[in-house]
Amino acid sequence: MIIFLIGFMGSGKSTTGRRLSSKLGYDFVDTDEVIIDRYGLSINEIFFQIGEEKFRESETLLLNELIQKESLVVSTGGGMPCHSENMELINANGCSIYLKLSPQALFSRLSPGKHKRPLIKNLNDEELMSFVEETLLEREPLYSKAKHVVGFDTDLEELLALVQT
Ligand code: S3P
Repeated sequence: MIIFLIGFMGSGKSTTGRRLSSKLGYDFVDTDEVIIDRYGLSINEIFFQIGEEKFRESETLLLNELIQKESLVVSTGGGMPCHSENMELINANGCSIYLKLSPQALFSRLSPGKHKRPLIKNLNDEELMSFVEETLLEREPLYSKAKHVVGFDTDLEELLALVQT
């Protein structure tokens, strides 16, 4: 089985994914980390030197590789399910879990480390809040195609029970 954690930037996919994978004894993959390794560049550098379009192509390529594997927990980049046919691929090949947070909660979690994320690094507080609200509205229809939708405070035992049903 492959478990895909999806959701907005800052929703806790990597932390949750790591914990879930160690409970299940599965390998863990963070798609951003793999792409960083492949380019030898940070996400900021990839966006600014190579461009978002190439980054999105790399995400789709990587997803196509990952679906060949088994016993894996994947933390996806926040935009991955929203480009190409990625959400369909995710659902056809694994169990998807959407970590759903409110725009306010996302704002609070994203604001302190925003310099690490190219889409928000130059935004002031007001712009960041609008970006989160507007982008979430656009992406929600795709995120909501996940098999399971859970809140940020869902504990590991609940998640385990979900994926084992
Ligand atoms: C993005 C989310 C980021 C990273 C890139 C673009 C997005 O991943 O892939 O900055 O479009 O939402 P995280 O969700 O892991 O921050």
